[in-house]
Amino acid sequence: MADETNGNEISRRQFGKSVGAMLAAAYVSPKLLQGVAGGRLKGFSRADAILINSNENPYGPSSHAIAAITGSEGVACRYPDDLYGRTVKAIAALHKVETENVILGCGSTEILRVCDAAFVGPDKSLVVAEPTFEAVTYYAEVSHANAVKIPLTADFRHDLPAMANACNANNTGLVYVCNPNNPTATINTRDEFADFIQRVPATTYVLVDEAYFHFVEDPKYSSIVDMVPKYPNLIMTRTFSKVYGMAGMRLGYAVAQKQTIEAMRRELLFDNGNAAVLAAATASLADPEIVPLNKKRLNDTRKWVMSELTKDGYHVIPSEANFFMVGVGGDVSPVITAFREKKILVGRKFPSIGTYLRVSVGKPEEMRAFLAAFREIVPAQKSAAA
Ligand SMILES: Cc1ncc(COP(=O)(O)O)c(C=O)c1O
Repeated sequence: MADETNGNEISRRQFGKSVGAMLAAAYVSPKLLQGVAGGRLKGFSRADAILINSNENPYGPSSHAIAAITGSEGVACRYPDDLYGRTVKAIAALHKVETENVILGCGSTEILRVCDAAFVGPDKSLVVAEPTFEAVTYYAEVSHANAVKIPLTADFRHDLPAMANACNANNTGLVYVCNPNNPTATINTRDEFADFIQRVPATTYVLVDEAYFHFVEDPKYSSIVDMVPKYPNLIMTRTFSKVYGMAGMRLGYAVAQKQTIEAMRRELLFDNGNAAVLAAATASLADPEIVPLNKKRLNDTRKWVMSELTKDGYHVIPSEANFFMVGVGGDVSPVITAFREKKILVGRKFPSIGTYLRVSVGKPEEMRAFLAAFREIVPAQKSAAA
């Protein structure tokens, strides 16, 4: 009887502890929830506003991808094993690796989340640049991991030597390198990365996010995917959301050595790619036109807008992506609000560089409207602050 009572007390205590752990595990940063719950449109509908806030590609999917989406109607009632296998094969062929080296994600956001779930935790921290794309930090928070934030260099690039120094063989689980970086659109060169990866402990995973790879023109930059066979701790991730214009369809992927992929796969949702996006992705990869076309039109538009702002006397951070940052000479928050009042949604504030505005590249007519609004808003804000 006493044993039984004891047993019940213990299980009540254990139950209390489990509930506490569940509640702690369920905690999600309010900022993250804002993104998850469709916070990007901030009360507007898509048709109401100019959307240059989320580094999307306004031109949408390739015509081949659209045809493939329509054709996927016939397989929509089946689990997408066949299309999944074909997509993995196409990605493996693109990167000259085996299919066992590739994993798909529901957007590259799922890859970032999976890396946090697999490689960081209360005793394994994350090392990131500040500022960088925040999802990896938010999901580290969900995994109860500490994030060590390393400021960018004076020219707004990842300080890779400082990031390598911050990695500790015993307790750094993951280091995240966003190249080109979001929000600054700056790059680190291949040589800088080659030096960095040699200095990072072999026990620390290195996640290189190449979401904006396709837009880069600097010859000193390259993908690091060819270094994967040499480094068991190296992971490269890409997405179909940017140059391929499929942000709404949700597909990303990672390339890494087999055992790293297996460690990540344990954290992945089963069947995480839908038939339509898988069909669209393989069609996009087979379309030789889509990458050069979108690279050219978005880079041309970006260069034109940046030169206009530079002529007006503003500092624009050199960009290698489909977005850029411009200094507004004061707190960017009222500028963002003023754009919103004109139904133009621009990038959010990044507090560590809070006087810079992040602008995604839209179509030329959208960017003409942006420039006209900028020329009204920013001088007015400056004189109001003076
Ligand atoms: C650097 C970077 N990585 C990953 C993502 C997530 O993209 P998705 O989940 O659409 O692939 C984004 C989105 O803006 C990004 O900027």
